[in-house]
This record gives sequence, structure tokens and C-alpha cells, in this order.
Amino acid sequence: MKEIGKNIFYVGINDNDIDLFENVYNVPNGVTYNSYLIMDEKITLLDTVDVRKSDEWLKKIDESLNGKKIDYLIVSHVEPDHSSNIQAITEKYPDVTLVGNQKTFQFLSQFFNIDSNIKKQEVKEGDVLDIGSHKLQFFMAPMVHWPEVMCTYEQTEKIIFSADAFGKFGVVDEENIYEDSEEQWLPEARRYYINIVGKYGPQVQALLKKISTLDIKMICPLHGPILNNNLDYYIDKYNTWSTYMPEEKGTLIAFASIHGNTKEAAKKVYDLLKDQGGIKSMDLSRCDVYEAVAEAFKYDKMVVLASSYNAGVFTPMEEFLNILKTKQYQNRKVAIVENGSWAPSAGMCMRAAFLDMKNIDVVPDVVTIKSSMKEEDIPKLENMVNSLIET
Ligand code: FEO
Repeated sequence: MKEIGKNIFYVGINDNDIDLFENVYNVPNGVTYNSYLIMDEKITLLDTVDVRKSDEWLKKIDESLNGKKIDYLIVSHVEPDHSSNIQAITEKYPDVTLVGNQKTFQFLSQFFNIDSNIKKQEVKEGDVLDIGSHKLQFFMAPMVHWPEVMCTYEQTEKIIFSADAFGKFGVVDEENIYEDSEEQWLPEARRYYINIVGKYGPQVQALLKKISTLDIKMICPLHGPILNNNLDYYIDKYNTWSTYMPEEKGTLIAFASIHGNTKEAAKKVYDLLKDQGGIKSMDLSRCDVYEAVAEAFKYDKMVVLASSYNAGVFTPMEEFLNILKTKQYQNRKVAIVENGSWAPSAGMCMRAAFLDMKNIDVVPDVVTIKSSMKEEDIPKLENMVNSLIET
């Protein structure tokens, strides 16, 4: 186990075998389930791990405790990737006290059959648990990412245990548990945030406001590396994401092409935009749609191009737009290109999707391509691009 503060240890587990996190998000570099152990007068464990790694983790806890018993188990979040071993801990250490809030205990009883005789300590906003030389203060963080989520601030070491907030996909090297590069953190932290927590921007804002009053030296999330350097950078990213503002000027070109003709138009749009700074083109039929969603949030502009299909829009685009809406995509400028051979319908569908989102400035003229891009289509694409980039 790795000591990250005085008598505070990282006891999390890497999961290299998982293919889909929450059974939907690709995690090519795996994921961690973080857990922390404070060896004080009262031995305190913060969170458990997913059932996928129970044996490995319970062995690690056993070795870390070296014959001692756990006094408190703080439950930051009842989602099963963190709570699946709470029952195992209560069975092994029946004198343990579970620490959570009213909703924590409600959800725990829904998920598990924990012995009703196990001690429970219900905490509220600002309560402090004195475990010896460490003092743990609780801050409720409802809907970051579930209603019962709470963060724990260790007052002497000035560490915030931030639950799902500030998490990142990917495993860690336990000997080098601290993130040492903001650039390295950003892409997978962004994909994690936008897709897992992104819907709940106002709730993340409320948490950021609360923790802005604290002196924080280290952020310990439930997934990914610990942050102990240049914390303003990470907090600033969370502020941008949770207010649904773009990170940078640039354009995502997202296309859904059946036979390659819409893809040709996307290539032309790329050529027209490539001198305008940040640009990325993604084939929605082949890329990870959740990565495309994260990229859409990164930039201030987007061009969507899609074929008409079943009197609607080609399904990869339909799915992409549906996800954008659920993640509260807003405050962007968007241009639309449709392709259709006899009754183009994709443009109308895409426009309707954006009208259903907040503060999307849609370039008025939808460019229509009939089956394949022709020379006469190019001025229309140029005009569309000019309208997109004009401020
Ligand atoms: Fe990592 Fe919302 O659980």
C-alpha cells in the first residue's frame, strides 16, 4: 500500500480486465476503484471496490491492516463499483461503523443484505468525525453522480476525498499514484466527466463552490490518479465543463455516412476549416460515440454531416445527437450538412435536435447534397463555413 499522507494509504485496485465501464463506456486502459485507509486511533476505510476485484482487494486490506480491525467505513457513494464489498467488510469486521447520510443507508439496504445490527453513523453537511490525529469533515455532493454522494475533507492533511468527481479512466501505477501531467490527465478525465457526471453541471458547480472555501492540498478521487499539484488547473477544467462552456476555439466535424459520399463532404469541410485552429473529424459509424461527445464539449463549434435514412437521419448521428442532448450540450455554434437522394430528411432532424438544446446557434442555411458532392456544392459549403467561423 502506498502512503499518500501521514498514516493515510492508497489501497485501491486496478481493473485491467474490464472492457466496458458501467457496461457502456470503452475503457481500453482499464479503470481503478480507489479506496483509502487511515491508520489512526480509529482505523478508517474510505470506500470499497467493485465485485470484479473483491478477492484481490480484500487480500490487500487484510495485509494492510496486519491483524488490526476497521473501526469506520465511510461510504462516499453507493454505486456498486465502490460499494460491492461493504457487506464483506461488515461480515469480516462486525464491530465496524458505517458512516454515510440518510440516502446512503437507504440505497445500501436496496442493494445489499447488510446485517441490521451493524452500527451506522448518519452524518450531515459539515459534520466532523474525529478519528484521532485526523479529523474528517463531510460535504454532501448530491447528484455528483448519485443523490447520496458525499465528499470527505481531512482537515489536518488538507486532503479532499472527492468521490466520482475528478476521476479519470485508466489504471494507475501504485508507486507513482500522483498525476504528473495535466495534458496526460485531460482526455480521459474529460471523457469520464462528460459522460459520467456531465448531465449534472449545476450540482458540480454547487460542490465546487463548497470546496472553494477549503484549503486543499490533494484531491483523492474514486477513479484514477491522485491530484497533488497545480490543483487550480483541474478545478478550472471542472468549472468549464460544469458550466457547459467550451474549453477552446475549434471545430468537431462529426459525420455519419452510409456509402462514403457524406464522408467526402466531411473531408471537404475539414479542408475548408483546417487553418482555423483546433479541428477534429470523427466518423460516427466507427468511432466511440462517447469519445465524440467529449470532443464536442471540448470545442466551441461543430459541423454535423449525415445521410438521410428511413425518412429521418442516419442512425449513428441520431444516437450521437440523443446523447449530446442528455449530456446538456449547449452554448455552441453548429452547422449542418445533409445528404439525400430523393427526399432529404437528415437536415430537418438534425436541426430539430439542436433546437431542443439550450443556446445552440445553428447556421441558418442547411447545405443539402444530392447523393454525392458536386462542384456546385462547394460554394455552399464555403458559405456555411464562413457563417460558422464569423463572430
Ligand atoms: Fe464510480 Fe458513480 O461510481
